[in-house]
Amino acid sequence: MDNLIIEAAKQYIQELFKGNSDGHDVNHSLRVYQNALKIAESYPECNVMIIALASLMHDVDDHKLFDTDNNMNARRFLKSQNISDEDIDLICEIVNGVSFSRNRGTAPESIEGRIVQDADRLDALGAIGIARAFAYGGRTGQSVESALQHFSDKLLLLKDEINTEEAREMADIRHAYMEEFLVEFQKEAEAQVL
Ligand code: ADP
Ligand code: NI
Repeated sequence: MDNLIIEAAKQYIQELFKGNSDGHDVNHSLRVYQNALKIAESYPECNVMIIALASLMHDVDDHKLFDTDNNMNARRFLKSQNISDEDIDLICEIVNGVSFSRNRGTAPESIEGRIVQDADRLDALGAIGIARAFAYGGRTGQSVESALQHFSDKLLLLKDEINTEEAREMADIRHAYMEEFLVEFQKEAEAQVL
């Protein structure tokens, strides 16, 4: 892997996500990158550089944050690093396949795409997933209870949509932790009424 390009990508997203506090911050992308590399260890045939760059770029053109067309932020950066047009297209295709809401029920074709999608989903689960849901809720003016609705709408469904065996193991642990949290929340909420 070309570490200089990876370092440049980290710097690029650091700058781009400055000031974002809704769970879509730079640390989310860095965790997705780490998750993806970890999953990729079980797939020696996969292209780790493509996985790494797609992970780091996966939110740089998110329509909720940026008003770009055709993955412009990702393309601009990748071009500046002399990545081939073919690889840029491949990375953008993977990025566009990551979103849960946009790709409900469809798994990416390539193993690289499936790994990055899993890596992003893992970061919506567990303790981190809980923290991100409330961070997002606060940012968009939702009550705690309405952010909780997001758990049944989306987060509790994710573990059944994981592509790789390695990620599924991690997802199961994180899912169980979220369920425990919800039970505890309910218990405390009921105790308060009494
Ligand atoms: P994706 O684009 O991969 O579907 P999102 O951009 O929708 O993911 O979500 C980013 C983060 O914000 C996730 O951690 C998700 O759980 C959280 N989030 C998204 N929508 C809501 C919501 N309505 N309430 C609370 N959290 C949310
Ligand atoms: Ni993401």
